[in-house]
Amino acid sequence: MAEHRHTLLTGLTGEVIEIGTGDGVNFTRYPPTVTRVLAVEPEPHLRRLAEAAAQQAAVPIHVVTDSAENLSVPDESFDAAVFSFELCTVPDLDAALNEALRVLRPGGQLRFLEHIRADTSRLIRVQHLLDATVWPLLVGGCHTGRDTQ
Ligand SMILES: C[S@@+](CC[C@H](N)C(=O)[O-])C[C@H]1O[C@@H](n2cnc3c(N)ncnc32)[C@H](O)[C@@H]1O
Repeated sequence: MAEHRHTLLTGLTGEVIEIGTGDGVNFTRYPPTVTRVLAVEPEPHLRRLAEAAAQQAAVPIHVVTDSAENLSVPDESFDAAVFSFELCTVPDLDAALNEALRVLRPGGQLRFLEHIRADTSRLIRVQHLLDATVWPLLVGGCHTGRDTQ
């Protein structure tokens, strides 16, 4: 997973918004070509952990409370938007992607790292069972079988 997270952020430049940042697990992986990161995390405990993680990062990172579906930032204000294990969780996937599009400058990049729906019907059934029962409660609203891709 460390390698996937590294690949997610490789080559990014300029101003980045990371949405649903959790405890800031990605923060130390941002390359020095990134000039600032606005990190969005609505959950208070995770946000406090992210604020601590931001102190360890090599690039300036500011952690805020906000929602993927309604970002309090101007249009076309970032060079990249980053989601990791986040599009499986947001209540409204289309709204979150539309918001990312709104805040990206022309030519900006959307980077995502996600688990996705299984490719066999047997595993899809297992995912649906998990999603209808315990999984979203155990893992902060995550849906294992969401067809994010
Ligand atoms: C599975 S965690 C992923 C955390 C981190 N990005 C990672 O790579 O491990 C999903 C995160 O999305 C956040 N989240 C949930 N609903 C959200 C929303 N509507 N807008 C933004 N973040 C949200 C959760 O608080 C949690 O931190």
